[in-house]
Amino acid sequence: MDMTSLVSTADAACGGNALQAPGCKRRIASAFGRAASTYDNAARLQKQVAEQTRSCLPALTAADAAILDLGCGTGLETRALGRRYRQARLFGLDLSPDMLSLAQSHQQATDCHWICGDLEVAPLPSGYFDLVYSSLAVQWCADLADVLSSCYRLLSPGGWFVFSTLAAGTLHELSTAWRLVDGRNHTNCYPPLSLHRQKLMRSRFAVHRLYQQTHRLYYPSALHLIRELKALGANTLVDDQPASGLTGKQAMVSLEKAYRTFAGTQGVPATWQVVYTALRKPP
Ligand SMILES: C[S@@+](CC[C@H](N)C(=O)[O-])C[C@H]1O[C@@H](n2cnc3c(N)ncnc32)[C@H](O)[C@@H]1O
Repeated sequence: MDMTSLVSTADAACGGNALQAPGCKRRIASAFGRAASTYDNAARLQKQVAEQTRSCLPALTAADAAILDLGCGTGLETRALGRRYRQARLFGLDLSPDMLSLAQSHQQATDCHWICGDLEVAPLPSGYFDLVYSSLAVQWCADLADVLSSCYRLLSPGGWFVFSTLAAGTLHELSTAWRLVDGRNHTNCYPPLSLHRQKLMRSRFAVHRLYQQTHRLYYPSALHLIRELKALGANTLVDDQPASGLTGKQAMVSLEKAYRTFAGTQGVPATWQVVYTALRKPP
């Protein structure tokens, strides 16, 4: 099998095909929309990851640089970008209108332009942005290669694309526990770092930072983790299959039992594998 076939096989296995189905983006937007009012309180992991993503940001030479936050959600990060680049022209784009209205309602958000759209096809002018930023949104896209080409087009020469996304091994405890309960897939699949690297190497960007970091949070029970994912809106299963296994209370009792095999003194763990990337379009 050649490299192109290997990459597309890995993409298909990781929900790439399902993410291209028209209804899938609608389901993702609805889940995030329903969670808009609970997102900020639930976003423990997202805040840690965002802080680390911001540590990869470059110094920008133009004071009035144009900055785009892709998958901006409630605008937590867009506001942080505004504090760091004080005179920048800020743009926040998200798939969910409800997330955007919440972002817009913040006092510090008045100078930001909010756009409802799909980051994979971002209908914005070419060569306009000095920095495109995205924290934990790209994993909801069908193909990283398409995101890379779209961002390359949006950036001015010398512009930066800094983002974080999820990799293989994310929520492996939940995935294993569910498989023990009903043999089904209840979590999304993410590509390994090696596949990210291949796609970056094939893009026209110069790679300045690329590394993976493990983040682990602890919960009193599996139910607490599941509730948190729902409160974040991050509970859409992209490769949704019709329910066939156990459901309801009995399934949860079995899930707790299976998940407890991972428990330690701090509670039950949930692991996220996060890839951090800083890319530059050649000047
Ligand atoms: C986990 S939240 C992250 C929000 C924000 N970046 C943060 O760090 O707090 C993911 C966000 O990406 C948005 N999203 C998912 N798929 C998207 C897409 N294809 N285009 C634009 N936004 C998308 C969701 O609506 C959601 O607001």
